[in-house]
Amino acid sequence: MKHEATDMSDWHQLEHEYFMQTIKRVPLTLVRGDGCRVWDDKGKEYLDFVGGWAVNSLGHCPPVVVKALEEQARTLIQVSNQFYSIPQVRLAELLVKNSCLDKVFLCNSGAEANEGAVKLARRYGKLHLQGAYEIITTFDSFHGRTLAMVAATGQAKFQEPYVPLPNGFVNVEYNSIEAIKKVTRKETCAVMLEPLQAEGGVNVPSEDYLKKVRDWCDQNGILLILDEIQTGLGRTGVLFAYQRCGIEPDIMTLAKGLASGVPIGAILAKRKVDVFQPGEHGSTFGGNPLVCAAAYAASKFIIENDVPGKADRVGRYLTDKLQQLKGKFDFVVDVRGQGLLLAMEFNREIADSALMSCLERGLLLNRVKPNVLRFIPPLIVTESDVDEAMGVLEEVLSLHRS
Ligand SMILES: Cc1ncc(COP(=O)(O)O)c(C=O)c1O
Repeated sequence: MKHEATDMSDWHQLEHEYFMQTIKRVPLTLVRGDGCRVWDDKGKEYLDFVGGWAVNSLGHCPPVVVKALEEQARTLIQVSNQFYSIPQVRLAELLVKNSCLDKVFLCNSGAEANEGAVKLARRYGKLHLQGAYEIITTFDSFHGRTLAMVAATGQAKFQEPYVPLPNGFVNVEYNSIEAIKKVTRKETCAVMLEPLQAEGGVNVPSEDYLKKVRDWCDQNGILLILDEIQTGLGRTGVLFAYQRCGIEPDIMTLAKGLASGVPIGAILAKRKVDVFQPGEHGSTFGGNPLVCAAAYAASKFIIENDVPGKADRVGRYLTDKLQQLKGKFDFVVDVRGQGLLLAMEFNREIADSALMSCLERGLLLNRVKPNVLRFIPPLIVTESDVDEAMGVLEEVLSLHRS
C-alpha cells in the first residue's frame, strides 16, 4: 500500500518521482505567505520579490481576497456558463468601467486569454477583412504555452520542440515599426504585442513604438491586440500599460495580477470587435463565481486604493537603488523596466548564482535570462522592503566581483 507524504517528507525527492519535470525548480518548498513574506517548510522567512511571477499583486493571502473567497465559497463556487452569475457580471462591469474596452470574456489563464483573443481577431478577419487570419507578433515575446501561443511567442527555445506549429503567425523584430510594415499583407488581421516584453528580458520599447503600431493598424484596418497579462492591473505604475503611451488597443488580454493569486484570464474588446456569436467560444470554469469574487475584490482594491500609483512610486525608488548598485558594480550593465517590472542585466551569466546567494540570505528573486535578474514584487511592497532587498543584493553582488 502506498503512503501519503507527511510533514517530514522529502518534498523535492517526491516531486521528482511524481511530477513531470517541466521546470528546474529552486530548492525551496514554500508553505505559507503573508503580504510580501513567505515561509518555507523549515520555518525560514523570505522577502518575496518574485510574487508568484507577477501574480500576487496585493501580496500573499491579501485579507480582501481571502474574505471574498471565504464568503463566495460558502455561497456558490461553480455554475455552468449556461446560467447568469453575479460575480462574473460585477467583474466585467468593473473592468469595462475602468478601461477603454467595452466587452469582456473570462477564462482561466493568460495563454487561454491570448488564444481567445486570436480566435476573436480571426473571426473579425473572416467577417470584416475578407478572411484575413494572420497575426504579427514579435521575437522575444511571451504569449503562453498552448500550441498556438507557442507559435505566437517569438522564441526558438519554446517553438523548436513542437514543430510543426499552427500556422497564421509571423514573428518579427520588436520595437521596429518597419519590421511590422514589411510583413503586413492582405492576410493580416492583427498585430499582437506586449507593451513591454516581460519574460523576454524586460525589454522596454521606444516611447513612440506603440503609437506607430496603432497608426499602422488604423491605416490598414487591422486590429491591435495588447497582451497586458503581465503589465496589467498596476504592474507598470498605471492601471494598464497602454495608458502610458496614449493609445487604445482593440483587444486586451489580462491574467496574472487580476485576482492577486487565484487563476483567471480575461479578454477585453472594443464594441466593434465583439463578434463572437453564441457557441463560437467558451470555457467550463471561465468566469466561475469563486474566482470572479476574488478578482472583483482584488481589482476593486487596486483601483480604489491607487495601487498603481504606489507601484509607480516604489518602482522609482527601486529603480534608483538598482541604478546605485549599477554605479558600484561594473559588471552590472543595465537597469530597466517600468513600475514594479524591473530588471538588472550583467555582462556575464551570473543571474542563477546571484539568485541562489540571495535565496540563502532570505530574498527571493527571478531570473529571465542567464545574465538578467527580474524584480516583480507584490505591488504593495514598501520602501523599507526595497531597502532590505537591496542590502542583500549588494552583499551578493560583492561576492560576484571577479
Ligand atoms: C505577457 C504574457 N502573456 C502570456 C503569458 C501566459 O500566461 P499563463 O502562464 O497564465 O498562461 C505570460 C506568462 O508569463 C505573460 O507574461
